[in-house]
Amino acid sequence: MFLNTHFSKAKKYWYMGKLYDWTEGIFHPMMHALHYGTCTFEGIRAYPTDKGPAIFRLKEHVDRLFHSASVIKMNVPFTKEEVMEAIKLVVKENQLESAYIRPLMFYSYGNLGLVPKFSPVELIIGAWEWGAYLGEAAERGGTACIVPKRRIHNSQLDLSAKLGGVYVQSAINGIAAREHGYDEAIFLNLEGRIAEGPGENICIIKDGVLKTNNREESVLEGITRTSLLEIAPDLGLKPEIGPITKEEFFQADEAFFCGTAAEVSPIVKVTDFSEGFDHGTEYIFGDGKPGPQTKKLREAYLDIVKGKNPKYEKWLYYVNR
Ligand SMILES: Cc1ncc(COP(=O)(O)O)c(C=O)c1O
Repeated sequence: MFLNTHFSKAKKYWYMGKLYDWTEGIFHPMMHALHYGTCTFEGIRAYPTDKGPAIFRLKEHVDRLFHSASVIKMNVPFTKEEVMEAIKLVVKENQLESAYIRPLMFYSYGNLGLVPKFSPVELIIGAWEWGAYLGEAAERGGTACIVPKRRIHNSQLDLSAKLGGVYVQSAINGIAAREHGYDEAIFLNLEGRIAEGPGENICIIKDGVLKTNNREESVLEGITRTSLLEIAPDLGLKPEIGPITKEEFFQADEAFFCGTAAEVSPIVKVTDFSEGFDHGTEYIFGDGKPGPQTKKLREAYLDIVKGKNPKYEKWLYYVNR
């Protein structure tokens, strides 16, 4: 029996075409993905709108899920349309107005050799109500630390895929940042430039330019980040994509994390522990409070996802249609 203590309002999950009670467990402990992280997943959000819950950029998320599956050589037993319909169904069946949605595709039970030759590919979809990922840091402005460990490099693994195994590095460093009293970690890449957070992209604002990096810098090119680059001109910000050096980061007017879970979360203070946790240098952005442009972007983003900006209704997938 599994309690839904940390999965608010979760009632049912979907597994291979059927709905199951949240409390019910159905997996064999020898499933491949549990041992080797041979899985891929998405984090998707639905928001309340005047027309009922709408899923933000569902198609892009499902496209990425299938892309990730191809990187880990999965033969997906569903079409993209079937997965999109199943995701909508899960939100509906859980009667959620706002939701965090988690599709997970994985090599299941069959064999435990590293090559999952006899392990079928299976899909599970869960949804529940999940507030701001970085808690009240999203409003008050969060603190972050650059961790000593460098992000896995894109020459080592295709980081355009959201593969389960990669998130072991995210989890270890997310824990380390919190142990040192910070809201979140920041990775440098092997080149020593800013990469990303454990589950978020990083953007800076300087002199009216909104800047973020791309996959060449060993980051996942997030759907949120790409959306923000598109809406930036509406707010008088010039979008720019390119490497972000540490110096450029520390000298920015404003900085923030962005991602489906984190939405737009201002960073107000950062400590550089890139040489080790025993000595760090602290930097404060602006006056140590969320910056005005970041606040505007955050508001604009939250308006869009809640269907309050007709220009971007194209990004919404209504659950009740
Ligand atoms: C490592 C990593 N970077 C960035 C992001 C942001 O991506 P998105 O905006 O598509 O959620 C995520 C979240 O999916 C992530 O896990």
